[in-house]
Amino acid sequence: MTLLGGLTPAQFMRDYWHKKPLLIRQAIPGFTPLLSRDELFGMAANEEVESRLITHFDQHWQMDSGPLEELPSPDEPDWTLLVQGANLHNDGADALLQQFRFLPDARLDDLMISYASAGGGVGPHFDSYDVFLLQAHGHRHWKIGAQDDLTLVEVAPLKILENFQPEQEFTLEPGDMLYLPPNYAHDGVAVDECMTYSIGFRAPSYQELGEAFTEFLADTLELPGRYADPDCEPTERPAELNDTMVTDITRQLNAIRFDKEDVSVFLGEYLTEPKLNVYFDPPTEPLEEDEFASLAAEQGLRLDRKTRMLYRGMDLFINGLSFAVTPADSRLLVALADHRCLAGNMLQDASADLADAFYTWYVDGWLHLDQGTVT
Ligand code: SIN
Ligand code: CO
Repeated sequence: MTLLGGLTPAQFMRDYWHKKPLLIRQAIPGFTPLLSRDELFGMAANEEVESRLITHFDQHWQMDSGPLEELPSPDEPDWTLLVQGANLHNDGADALLQQFRFLPDARLDDLMISYASAGGGVGPHFDSYDVFLLQAHGHRHWKIGAQDDLTLVEVAPLKILENFQPEQEFTLEPGDMLYLPPNYAHDGVAVDECMTYSIGFRAPSYQELGEAFTEFLADTLELPGRYADPDCEPTERPAELNDTMVTDITRQLNAIRFDKEDVSVFLGEYLTEPKLNVYFDPPTEPLEEDEFASLAAEQGLRLDRKTRMLYRGMDLFINGLSFAVTPADSRLLVALADHRCLAGNMLQDASADLADAFYTWYVDGWLHLDQGTVT
């Protein structure tokens, strides 16, 4: 497996993942960019695409958020364009991300493409997530270091390390890839006009999870009854919040409970929720349900690039929704989630409910008929 420089995924995970950097020369031999510079610039102008322009003109860092109608000239040095979520909009970028599915979908985030004119970069910094940096075009010179001092420059509009202490450096050419664990200091500067693809991961903070989980709990909460005080006595301190009331309500609220199953449903919904700027493209003239069913049985189904799907036990999660399914349907849905496509001949085993769900997902643009699947 050249992708990991001859290591198996198991060896890579054991020795490097989340632990130390790995430089892989020719991870993808003969790699050529999946999008041209102009196609990338076009994406940056699209309001459904998250993009940022970072300039370092006259030693001054500046960041502008997309959509970006106008960009500096590629001949002008020291600027970078970052396009997030390229996998949501481009089949090749999606296929590249799929090569990293030896890691769980719950952790895989997106493919970011960066374009830099000569000298361009985002400055010395660290990221809170693991990342694979694949050189797609031109050359980038990386300096990296395992420093503990992660103090940031105070006034910069982006995260720039005040005290960068590089320990290793190397120049990457197309097909080379650098893996960095979280919080590893790095600085990549374009030697010439270059493009780098970042395969990014998500690791939500516990604070973020806690806030989202309490909202999830609030949606499903059922606490019967209402505060009552038949023994209330006359008071000379009417403004006091009395202890009887606080004690009673503390006891009632302590009845709020959750278990691993609640957390699992929450996580499945949370992690499959499409990002805010993600819109599906429903078919303009959808087929009738019976027509769809017979074509699906011939051609199979394929998930849309933007669809996020996870499962756990008999629970199935898709684009922020959860379903408890039967063992027979679960077999099909697990295959669909793992392979992101389902052969037509498997559909005969789907229950009527599942067949309805497939049709709804088709009408919503979450999946499509798959002419490519062998049945
Ligand atoms: C880049 O590709 O320009 C920067 C990626 C990174 O350093 O995280
Ligand atoms: Co970085």
